[in-house]
Amino acid sequence: MNKSLRLPQFDTENTQSRKSYLKEMQKIYAYTLTYDGIIATVNTLPEREKTTLGYKAKSLLHLAGVLPSLPSFLLNRLKFKTFKKTYTKYDDYFFYNKSSFPNPEMRENFLDNKYLGYQRVAGMNPVVLEGVNDKNPLPSTFKVSANSLNITDKEFKSAFKDNRFYMTNYSMLKPLFENPGEVEGVRKYIMPAIALYTMEDDGTLKILAIQLDATKETNDDTNPIITPANERWNMARTYIQAADGTHQELWTHATRIHYVLESIIMGSWRQLGKNHPLLALLKPHLKFTLSVNVNPLFEKSPDGTIPSFGKMFGCDNETLVAFMGEGMKSYSFKNFILPVELERRHVTDPRLLYPYRDDGLLMWEETKRFVSEYINAWYKTDDDVAHDFELQNWAKELGGSRKENNFGLTDFPTKFNSADELIEIVAHIIFIATAHHSSVHYPQYECAGFPPNLPFSAYVPPLTDPKNYQTEEGLVKFFPPYDQALEQAFIFYFTNFKVNRVGEFDLSSVPKEYWSIFKEHQKNLQKIHQKITSLNKTRLYHYQYMDPNNVPNSVTV
Ligand SMILES: [Fe+2]
Repeated sequence: MNKSLRLPQFDTENTQSRKSYLKEMQKIYAYTLTYDGIIATVNTLPEREKTTLGYKAKSLLHLAGVLPSLPSFLLNRLKFKTFKKTYTKYDDYFFYNKSSFPNPEMRENFLDNKYLGYQRVAGMNPVVLEGVNDKNPLPSTFKVSANSLNITDKEFKSAFKDNRFYMTNYSMLKPLFENPGEVEGVRKYIMPAIALYTMEDDGTLKILAIQLDATKETNDDTNPIITPANERWNMARTYIQAADGTHQELWTHATRIHYVLESIIMGSWRQLGKNHPLLALLKPHLKFTLSVNVNPLFEKSPDGTIPSFGKMFGCDNETLVAFMGEGMKSYSFKNFILPVELERRHVTDPRLLYPYRDDGLLMWEETKRFVSEYINAWYKTDDDVAHDFELQNWAKELGGSRKENNFGLTDFPTKFNSADELIEIVAHIIFIATAHHSSVHYPQYECAGFPPNLPFSAYVPPLTDPKNYQTEEGLVKFFPPYDQALEQAFIFYFTNFKVNRVGEFDLSSVPKEYWSIFKEHQKNLQKIHQKITSLNKTRLYHYQYMDPNNVPNSVTV
């Protein structure tokens, strides 16, 4: 990449060399539609995508943080793995107990219901919460009433009218529930559960009720409404957390960030010439993601081995793979653009304390402004967009149908007619690779690094006799066995490091007249950092995951 950036239609003297370069790149970035023919993954990790020495050094340095915990870790391993003792305490699951933990207060009090509300708006999956109102009512299967919540009809109606009810509905997990999995002969459980919350006067969410099967038309003894006062509460809480974690890993995180970006990365290198201005803009956001994605986490290997990570989830492996394919198909590139997505979930009420939304919008607006400056500087008219044949090929391959061997991203335009259309899509790509991934990836150690707070499956059936889990010794039986619990704690500890920061850009890769666009962007990111720092001084929740000083420039873990 150098200063001779040119749109292909104005680079006529290099038409042939651009073409042969792209032909070569298409070989290097050859891909296959995997996950039941839905998700595009690279055939072989290109040499140029491998992690650098600097990346490896940062990862090792971070890993060294577990060293103080090593003696207790080995003792724990001897006890629970070698001698197969059964867990009796929540703290038995705290594997790195002498290493730093991001939210010790939550870990020590994880059964306190206030942390359920907190995790829905500032945790690792802050994208499921929906406002309940006339336009977005509770599903008819969720027969929650004033009576079941132990409040008056008047209170129930007035909360509804005042738009104070929120829900998280995991009914999409039904196929997983119907196709349970086993690990080492032990059955795993997951439920397509639903939860109701109310917004308190201070804007926080208080959980009111859980129903384990949001798809079943009954609330009899086989599918009761369970409230915090019920003796079944800690079981229901475990199931709602498992549902949220499963949705996060399989849809929000792996499919809709890592694999969506894998398509974008391959499409960009395959279709945009070496000196294409759009490639220059995207390049810092495409770094290291393929080297992360190439590690097998979900799909069975050809010899039938299921990766350790895939073993944590409640269903069989075929169902898990099909579910991820479904997550990709239902990810609409246009409907998931942040402001549209927030409207769609009815979560724009400013009274709601929702750091993901508020900090996310600051980052989205600045990303869009920056992208708009850059795109408008290169594409002086909409005709320049329409005549950029490399850009049009990029669109055709990313948005085109899978049947014709394209990437098939849902609602990705197959043609760009205007700069405005391009700005929206490019800003969305950069937002996914930066602030959005940061908000989903980095809270994982806080929320799921201690498995009792969020196990990905339960290991006791849901409606078993409540007297069996009223004690700590009883409830731990719901949590994963040693290998799955350790996999969960390890992977989230291990991937909790950063190698770059949003806004970093090699200015020498663009002509000097464009430098001010990048410098302005960096200045504005610092203003956002200052704003979030000051917001955090008065917020009930300190939220750091979208502060630009903590947001990486690409998906590097
Ligand atoms: Fe990630």
